[in-house]
Amino acid sequence: MTRNSEKSVPRPCGAVTFDNTGRVIIVTGGCSGIGRAICEGFAKSGAAVVCADRDTAGSRHLAEGIEFRQCDTSSKDDCASVVNWTVEQFGGLDVLVNNAAIQPKDSYRPIHELPVDVWDRVIRVNLSGYTFMAMSALPHMRQQNSGVVINISSGQGHRTARHVGAYGPIKAANMMQARQWAVEYARDGIRVVSVSPGAIDTPLVRASLAQQGGGAALANRHPIGRIGQPEEVANAVLWLSGPDASFVTGTDLEVDGGLGALGAFADPYPMSNPTDL
Ligand SMILES: NC(=O)c1ccc[n+]([C@@H]2O[C@H](COP(=O)([O-])OP(=O)(O)OC[C@H]3O[C@@H](n4cnc5c(N)ncnc54)[C@H](O)[C@@H]3O)[C@@H](O)[C@H]2O)c1
Repeated sequence: MTRNSEKSVPRPCGAVTFDNTGRVIIVTGGCSGIGRAICEGFAKSGAAVVCADRDTAGSRHLAEGIEFRQCDTSSKDDCASVVNWTVEQFGGLDVLVNNAAIQPKDSYRPIHELPVDVWDRVIRVNLSGYTFMAMSALPHMRQQNSGVVINISSGQGHRTARHVGAYGPIKAANMMQARQWAVEYARDGIRVVSVSPGAIDTPLVRASLAQQGGGAALANRHPIGRIGQPEEVANAVLWLSGPDASFVTGTDLEVDGGLGALGAFADPYPMSNPTDL
């Protein structure tokens, strides 16, 4: 079958540019994958960016100008210290991106086989970590009467699959954290939203390709026919953090190549080109 895209001449598709000059941003888990792309997007558009990550080795790959602070978001003290350092250093905090999360290989089990220590670890980073960062950031934002918090959730928080009994429900909770905080702090000039990516080409996804049926099957599950790139999530985060999204709060944006729209079982896409990632 010849698709229209194979014979058509590309049309202009427009462009959006961001200006974050003077803004101060914290991104957790910014040393890798989606977090790194978010750090770079903000830095390129003029912001002061602090990457809060537990991985000191990963900080070597950060673009010049991005500040690295070692921080384990499962520790309330670490979260408070990175927020306080940022405010002292840069005089305020405009955007917090809660992105650091884990999906350990040993969490891919039905819950009756899930070790309690794995459950506790996922809760501590993926749920408590987001709350600890927000607990530290929101008082500064309230004082400024401005700020944006963005929680990175997941398509797996909207719909579910086998073997994600820890990761999936906690990602759903990340959305409700955002909604609850949005309602709580809306009259303080603070917006809070979440972003739910589909599969994005990052170390986290590559580490679990076997559990997802392999790269070609994973790509084919997305109506767009491929998985996403970290920059495609970063662009959504940049837009949500800016003035063009001034009336957007307490909601979630799925950045997923149509994955979430594909719910029915009829007529699956043929695996015509089963190349791997
Ligand atoms: N990649 C995907 O397909 C996908 C899909 C949906 C949602 N997400 C979400 O996007 C976010 C980023 O995922 P990714 O694929 O870029 O992951 P990744 O594994 O590539 O990067 C995660 C980063 O978080 C850091 N980190 C982990 N635990 C930490 C802790 N306790 N304290 C501080 N830093 C910590 C790691 O060191 C790493 O730099 C996560 O919230 C994930 O759930 C990813």
